[in-house]
Amino acid sequence: MVSQEQRTALIQAAIEVRQQAYAPYSNYPVGAALLMEDGTIVTGVNVENSSYGLTICAERTAVTTAITAGYRKILAVAVATDNAGSPCGACRQVLTEFARDVPVYLVDGAGNGRDTTLYALLPDHFGPEHLH
Ligand code: THU
Repeated sequence: MVSQEQRTALIQAAIEVRQQAYAPYSNYPVGAALLMEDGTIVTGVNVENSSYGLTICAERTAVTTAITAGYRKILAVAVATDNAGSPCGACRQVLTEFARDVPVYLVDGAGNGRDTTLYALLPDHFGPEHLH
């Protein structure tokens, strides 16, 4: 279970880290925050590139940072954008590798938005359980 305090902290972390986004081409900075099993929050931002297709989304930046730090299980996700936008399909799939039907908080810069879940965003997903 994710407490109200954890939800608030996760959303705040996504909003704050969004300032570090490198998005000079789209002007659509994104901040992502992941709640890990021990309560740690791991963040990420989108990192764009002049070769546009090499852009990395905020959610996947956060996932690679979390995995590098040794984490393997995500308990909740917050994504901050200009308009409480939804994670792209690639990020939904990558999150699914390390999370079950966890809460996903989609917020704008003021913290307004909507709560959903990973499986609501990615129904009938293909996950690691299908390979075991
Ligand atoms: N972006 C993300 O960081 N996460 C998403 O899930 C959607 C898209 C980024 C990629 C690009 O830098 C910008 O938003 C516009 O597509």
